Amino acid sequence: MLSRRNLLGLVATGTLVSAGPCDIYASGGAPCVAAHSTTRALYSAYSGPLYQVIRGSDSTTIDISPLTAGGVANAAAQDTFCASTTCLISIIYDQSGSGNDLTRAPPGGFDGPEANGYDNLASAIGAPVTLNGNKAYGVFVSPGTGYRNNEANGTATGDEPEGMYAVLDGTHYNDACCFDYGNAETSSTDTGAGHMEAIYYGNSTTWGYGSGSGPWVMADLENNLFSGQAEGLNSADPSISYRFVTAAVKGEPNQWAIRAGNAASGALSTFYSGARPTVTGYNPMSKEGAIILGIGGDNSNGAQGTFYEGVMTSGYPSDATEASVQANIVAAKYATTSLTSGSALTVGSSISFRATTTGYTTRYLVHSGTSVVTEVVSSSSSTTLQEQASWTVRTGLGNSACFSFESVDTPGSYLRHSDFVLYLNASDGTKQFNEDATFCPQTGINNSGSGYLSIRSWNYPTRYFRHYDDALYIASNGGVHTFDSATSFNADVTWAISTGFAS
Ligand SMILES: *[C@@H]1O[C@H](CO)[C@@H](O)[C@H](O)[C@H]1NC(C)=O
Ligand SMILES: *[C@@H]1O[C@H](CO)[C@@H](O)[C@H](O)[C@H]1NC(C)=O
Ligand SMILES: *[C@@H]1O[C@H](CO)[C@@H](O)[C@H](O)[C@H]1NC(C)=O
Ligand SMILES: *[C@@H]1O[C@H](CO)[C@@H](O)[C@H](O)[C@H]1NC(C)=O
Repeated sequence: MLSRRNLLGLVATGTLVSAGPCDIYASGGAPCVAAHSTTRALYSAYSGPLYQVIRGSDSTTIDISPLTAGGVANAAAQDTFCASTTCLISIIYDQSGSGNDLTRAPPGGFDGPEANGYDNLASAIGAPVTLNGNKAYGVFVSPGTGYRNNEANGTATGDEPEGMYAVLDGTHYNDACCFDYGNAETSSTDTGAGHMEAIYYGNSTTWGYGSGSGPWVMADLENNLFSGQAEGLNSADPSISYRFVTAAVKGEPNQWAIRAGNAASGALSTFYSGARPTVTGYNPMSKEGAIILGIGGDNSNGAQGTFYEGVMTSGYPSDATEASVQANIVAAKYATTSLTSGSALTVGSSISFRATTTGYTTRYLVHSGTSVVTEVVSSSSSTTLQEQASWTVRTGLGNSACFSFESVDTPGSYLRHSDFVLYLNASDGTKQFNEDATFCPQTGINNSGSGYLSIRSWNYPTRYFRHYDDALYIASNGGVHTFDSATSFNADVTWAISTGFAS
């Protein structure tokens, strides 16, 4: 299987190319049994598919592969395929040859938000980055989003040794359960202590936690997040919030470790390494071998986070092997890139949003108290209505690469979504408010011309400002709510942006 992997990184031409993370693990005696990444190949010789996207316009799919063997994903192929529609990540392929692909997580102890209890798929464009200057997309997990494989092949079961790492966005997290990547129950239900061994990232304090106010890398071992051997606080597990975080967890009989560092620079540090928790159920472990991403073992799906790449190994990798893998991740040069596209907005300017759907093109996005609706507005409308239709562009409260929209007539109040309905609410300064009030404009989905934009929610990037029955929502294309209807979606989420009626 030369096209899939070659342990020495020796390609057919005889040129020695630099080893990928899974070549390094194999050399270290702990080969990858799962290798997931939407950003790059994790073996120097891998040129197969990295992930699949499905588009809203016709529900067809395309596989995205690396530009070259061992290289960065061909994001341009995705952009072409997804132009003028929406796209979701439908499969994250396993590069290891073990067949451990991740797909939409099914219902378990907790149902997902889809009609059949499945979790949502991630937007294909929620987490753009560059690797060595080449654009790629990560997996942006909103609450309700999750991937899983309950029939994984070759992953650790029982007390068998394993290792894992993931590269994550250290600025995208919350305190809900559980943004995980790793080993979990095959039933999607909580089968008890020790039935999981997964990386957790976030600031939950319900179980274990570390020093400072978080977020922390911990291990989800089921019925408990552990930051060290004891339950609760392990002060040696520091808050860690680099923009790109490498998080690693590994376990073998009566030994486990948490290690992490900056995925863009430097080495990993060990936050815990030692004996298994003394609480009943964790020694020996009862790992089941399923693979989860973005959810807990029982499909708890309230958490958020971003995943770029990660692997699971068979065997307990040495710290030296992990050091080489970290060096490889640093050399991949993860960096941020623009979250917006299309006509630029100017911070401090006043704008108005006009609907573009045929039959509605005289209607503008206005607030009426805390409600947000569309109304017919023109330069001969009352001053009150003109002000209600005018919005000051602000730097995004939850992410400075995007924007927030402050009411011209109600300073201090911003457009924000709650339960996917758009409201005008006074800022309460919380992380939740700031994130719910942050939007990333992009080229208009139904009109790529100058002055047209679609307004994507930062924390739910499958969702856009949409007028539906003259009320405003953040809607996904064909989702479960009435206002998610695919009919007229593209036009309803495309807005003509003009100078505000008032400022
Ligand atoms: C399981 O993994 C092994 C080793 O990678 C591989 O040879 C085998 O084809 C896999 N089985 C399936 C069903 O994918
Ligand atoms: C997690 O962090 C956010 C932002 O700082 C904070 O509002 C929230 O209370 C924290 N959660 C816990 C459980 O400490
Ligand atoms: C989509 O935009 C085009 C122009 O770009 C317009 O002709 C068409 O009517 C729009 N579709 C709807 C349903 O409004
Ligand atoms: C935001 O507005 C809605 C609608 O009036 C209201 O129910 C909610 O309590 C408001 N939230 C805050 C935090 O002000």
